[in-house]
Amino acid sequence: MKLFRKGAQVYGAGQMGVHAEYTCMPEEKVTMKPTNMTYEEAAAVPFAAPVSLQFLRNKGGIQSGHKVLINGASGGLGTFAVQLAKYFGAEVTGVCSTTNLELVQSIGADRVIDYTKEDFIKEGQTYDIIFNAVGKNSFPKCKSSLNQKGIYLSTVATIPLLVLMLWTSMIGSKKAIFMMAPYRIEDLIFLKELIEAGKIKSVIDRSYPLEQIVEAHRYVEKNHKKGNVVITV
Ligand SMILES: NC(=O)c1ccc[n+]([C@@H]2O[C@H](COP(=O)([O-])OP(=O)(O)OC[C@H]3O[C@@H](n4cnc5c(N)ncnc54)[C@H](OP(=O)(O)O)[C@@H]3O)[C@@H](O)[C@H]2O)c1
Repeated sequence: MKLFRKGAQVYGAGQMGVHAEYTCMPEEKVTMKPTNMTYEEAAAVPFAAPVSLQFLRNKGGIQSGHKVLINGASGGLGTFAVQLAKYFGAEVTGVCSTTNLELVQSIGADRVIDYTKEDFIKEGQTYDIIFNAVGKNSFPKCKSSLNQKGIYLSTVATIPLLVLMLWTSMIGSKKAIFMMAPYRIEDLIFLKELIEAGKIKSVIDRSYPLEQIVEAHRYVEKNHKKGNVVITV
């Protein structure tokens, strides 16, 4: 061990598809956990937050003053995306259902749209970035809601979207983008700084003990969690 002293409180994302109390990780895959977070709060960060960061900053080129719409603003990726977009100085519209309007406003959205009552596509507003965090609205549906050089970002891939991604990379000014966000320790270091500066926090819906992992999965698989679900050991 070269980078950390014994007992150092680190955070990072391990192998997918396992639940365990202990795991071996290469030192360079973890970094110091934010000092102002509990382990539960910190555990919610390394998977969801870097994905939203990479989509908005690396693929969307988010800038201060941009008009950004986050579809699925109350989910794991969405709650981090709203806060990150605000951090980058964007004017943020969050789309969620009635029960989550208050939550999405509380984490900084300037405006919220209840998808059970209103369709943002029919609203006539246009955005520099539409971040489709939950994969519910396709690029063709969102296209008229994008500014002339607007970017549609999707965390969920479909064959038509991959074709459109290739097509829009060559033709037209509106772009459609999907990626599998890579895991980068620099992102976790960057996020730690934002968290310690009070710019970003984890939204925890529920926490389950490891013994109730089946119930935890059942709940998450309903696709209606608010922010994140964590497992305690
Ligand atoms: N490409 C990548 O690298 C990458 C990485 C990580 C995750 N992903 C994908 O990203 C997606 C989102 O992950 P997640 O963990 O953020 O999901 P999640 O937390 O399960 O999303 C649940 C949220 O979605 C909202 N929602 C459901 N239907 C909606 C609709 N029609 N319009 C707007 N919001 C709606 C729910 O709100 P209500 O309860 O109010 O409906 C709930 O708050 C997943 O499909 C995941 O596989 C991709």
